[in-house]
Amino acid sequence: MKFFLDTANLEEIRQGVSLGVIDGVTTNPTLIAKEKRPFREHILEICNIVRDGVVNAEVVSTDTENILREAREIATWHPNIVVKIPVIPDGVRALSILSKEGIRVNITLCFSSPQALIVAKAGAYFVSPFLGRLDDISSDGLTLLREIMDIYKAYGYPTQVLAASLRHPLHVIAAARMGAHIGTMPFKVFEQLFKHPLTDRGLEGFQKDWEKARETLGDIFETASARNPKR
Ligand code: G3P
Repeated sequence: MKFFLDTANLEEIRQGVSLGVIDGVTTNPTLIAKEKRPFREHILEICNIVRDGVVNAEVVSTDTENILREAREIATWHPNIVVKIPVIPDGVRALSILSKEGIRVNITLCFSSPQALIVAKAGAYFVSPFLGRLDDISSDGLTLLREIMDIYKAYGYPTQVLAASLRHPLHVIAAARMGAHIGTMPFKVFEQLFKHPLTDRGLEGFQKDWEKARETLGDIFETASARNPKR
């Protein structure tokens, strides 16, 4: 499973990327607006941090002509950019054209399996079902994800499923068990994936015990380097 960070915050992206397990970043107009910087400049800075990873940047127009104009421009900014377009009729029309031009499109705001089926037919590179926002309205985001995975598998669609709006580690694990190609998550959820109170408690215990025993055992690392300073 690929991990994307769902943030436009450069510090969070730097921290996540430093762990070596981040494959890309998703942004949206809300996340970009929070950073209060010019769109292109900010996206290019993200591309620079993520290096080989994919960076998703979203159009803001809602009519086909302007979606096409924005998407074509965004796609020229950097080779690692995937253009996000909402799953509205004008967006699907634009997708059908852009996919034939070889522009990679992430179809966003997907809340139903028929939407996912249509955009796979139109050549979406990624589809982003929003799990958490469905849960918010007492619907079931994971059921939607299951349906999309089944449909894409049944027909062998190459569109990759990007599980989005993930709110907690259980979402990530359920999406991984279903074989979602990518999970995009806020930095907080990414941190929660590897934080565990028993790990912290266990480590604290190991360190305390080691400190107590040091007088008799010595420091193995200091001893090794003292014997062979070149090592
Ligand atoms: O970036 C799209 C999506 O992941 C948004 O998530 O938490 O705003 O529902 P959220």
